[in-house]
Amino acid sequence: MRLKLKTVFVLYFMVSLMGLVYALMQLGQRCDCTEHDLPKDRTISRLRGELHRLEEQMKKVEATKSPHQAPKSTPPTIFVITPTYSRFVQKAELTRLSQTFLHVPQLHWVLVEDSPHKTPLVAGLLADSGLAYTHLHTATPKERKLQDGDPSWLKPRGAEQRNEGLRWLREDRRAPQGADSQQGVVYFADDDNTYSIQLFQEMRGTQRVSVWPVGLVGGMRYERPVVEGGKVVRFHTGWRPSRPFPLDMAGFAVSLKAVLANQDACFDGNAPMGFLESSFLQGVVTMEELEPRADNCSKVLVWHTRTEKPKMKREDALQAQGLGSDNAVEV
Ligand code: UGA
Ligand code: MN
Repeated sequence: MRLKLKTVFVLYFMVSLMGLVYALMQLGQRCDCTEHDLPKDRTISRLRGELHRLEEQMKKVEATKSPHQAPKSTPPTIFVITPTYSRFVQKAELTRLSQTFLHVPQLHWVLVEDSPHKTPLVAGLLADSGLAYTHLHTATPKERKLQDGDPSWLKPRGAEQRNEGLRWLREDRRAPQGADSQQGVVYFADDDNTYSIQLFQEMRGTQRVSVWPVGLVGGMRYERPVVEGGKVVRFHTGWRPSRPFPLDMAGFAVSLKAVLANQDACFDGNAPMGFLESSFLQGVVTMEELEPRADNCSKVLVWHTRTEKPKMKREDALQAQGLGSDNAVEV
């Protein structure tokens, strides 16, 4: 059908062209207008006009070709909730993260600062990021916050901030707005991990909770759900596989629907080590319902990388002499 239409247009084009040439020959001589208006130029511009009209007609035909086809709908939004806190590497981490997210269509970044107020550094970074975002903050209470020198596993990190992100989402997407506003996927992305953009394609179709492997975590090359017959049957992990959901935060995504349907599901800031993810997932899903992604959990698309804390020995020494780096320079 398409070929035939094209042939008709080509024929139409040829006939108009011949007609045009004939008409010009009839005119016979140069016109007496300016040099720019010579018959050759006019022919070219007429032909251009003709071509343009034909192109427009082709476009119209293409558009009406299959009226029964549904219009392309936009994919569900991925809401990425990221806790973050002030330290030397914060801007570097957030820059890397935001520039990964720029490659992902329909992504909304919910960045939650662990701070009693929004900081200018984060506000500026978000404003310049080119991303759709929501900037939130909530400070971890002092008794729950890691202190300098504490081992990193002593207390859960980012729990209050993820809960603040969930609170915002549940408020923002309350039911009356219509069904479309409840389509979406929620992913908890820490600011220091490394994310392949392919991961976001994998999670986009999450019905309830989707899962996949996480590289370089738990003292292992990777941890992952073990899949048999398309279902998760157990977990490959080096530590307490009997935990309800022995998954790292980076290893699952939840549908917005499931977040809205389970209003009480949240992260327990007092959860014992390794139980933070379970504290949330227990309120949302059962193991049998988990949806394996990344080729039945055979591919690593996210890495639990951790950034070295920069040493400031020389900076401190220079500062003691009044020669430290300029504080007005944001790093
Ligand atoms: C591991 C998991 O990958 C985390 O998802 C989990 O929250 C954490 O353990 C835990 O058990 O609490 P890990 O690399 O040890 O991650 O933790 P961090 O990357 O240091 O912190 C996780 C997130 O919380 C990061 O986005 C970080 O910026 C944020 N955070 C950390 C705060 O908001 N406040 C803090 O005081 C520390
Ligand atoms: Mn981390």
